Amino acid sequence: CSSRKSPLKLRVMDFIASAAILPLLFGCLGIFGLLRLLQWMRMKAYLRGAVVVITGATSGLGKECAKVFYAAGAKLVLCGRNGEALEELARELFTSPATQVQTHKPYIVTFDLAEPGTIVGAAAEILQCFGHVDILINNAGISYRGAIMDTTVDVDKRVMETNYFGPVALTKALLPSMVRRRRGHVVAISSIQGKISIPFRSAYAASKHATQAFFDCLRAEMKQYEIEVTVVSPGYIHTNLSLNAITADGSRYGVMDKTTAQGRSPVEVAQEVLAAVGRKKEDVILASLLPSLAIYLRTLAPGLFFSLMASRARKECKSKNS
Ligand SMILES: NC(=O)c1ccc[n+]([C@@H]2O[C@H](COP(=O)([O-])OP(=O)(O)OC[C@H]3O[C@@H](n4cnc5c(N)ncnc54)[C@H](OP(=O)(O)O)[C@@H]3O)[C@@H](O)[C@H]2O)c1
Repeated sequence: CSSRKSPLKLRVMDFIASAAILPLLFGCLGIFGLLRLLQWMRMKAYLRGAVVVITGATSGLGKECAKVFYAAGAKLVLCGRNGEALEELARELFTSPATQVQTHKPYIVTFDLAEPGTIVGAAAEILQCFGHVDILINNAGISYRGAIMDTTVDVDKRVMETNYFGPVALTKALLPSMVRRRRGHVVAISSIQGKISIPFRSAYAASKHATQAFFDCLRAEMKQYEIEVTVVSPGYIHTNLSLNAITADGSRYGVMDKTTAQGRSPVEVAQEVLAAVGRKKEDVILASLLPSLAIYLRTLAPGLFFSLMASRARKECKSKNS
């Protein structure tokens, strides 16, 4: 056949191919590494000296976020209801071993997100700490366990006040100063349950869906002022969230759920929140494969998703009654 190549020609072509592939591969890896390094340096510079407000800093994810942002050189304003716990955290941070980055003594602002009357005053206090806010992390939240039929509307409202209206009011109170400076970043710690709803979590899932919607709108409206908005949706994290959850009658649930106990370490999740904020990501899902797939299933095959959730609800009812 005329297209047949001689063995010598083939060997020469093999040599050229193998000689070209290796430098090309190393070149690509080098460029990739360089880009990652540049991204990392930009992230470090963005966080160093930035005024970062963290709500719900007394426990769980908020506390770990305080640690990683502090270590990155951020000027922290720690918020929560428990002044003593915040003082202790601030002391722990400020007396922690020195790092290469310059660190700053954190400020503390105590207020209850579920008390609408306190938010404007708290925002003014927050602004007084360092004169402005660069990054607001709306992290505080409570969870809920109960059947819709048994749950009083007051419980729905309590969850919405803490998880939705409180963070919305705080964001609105701090936005004007960000807009004036044309600089700012608002972060909402939502949940996978802000994307999909699972039975017996109605108030929580509703508050997180509302959070996702509000901050998606905010992102669009704030683009023109160069203000960033990041929504982070984690899966289960090993924190006190289920212990602190409220039930259908408003009492404390007080149980460490197996799913929460088996959740990811808050230290790891806080590091991923830091990376997402530093890279100015818009929407981040921090979950394992199954919950991530469930989000796609809800969109692509809603019927199947709904029957799976109905079967889960039936099973939970059965195990409760047995
Ligand atoms: N753990 C999970 O599996 C998981 C999964 C997805 C998303 N999330 C989200 O992650 C965020 C942090 O929760 P976590 O897991 O770290 O739970 P956590 O350990 O119970 O911490 C919740 C924090 O929110 C604060 N808080 C609660 N109600 C408040 C109120 N009315 N006013 C002010 N602060 C209030 C608490 O402060 P006090 O000390 O004053 O109570 C505490 O610092 C929440 O938004 C949660 O929805 C958690």
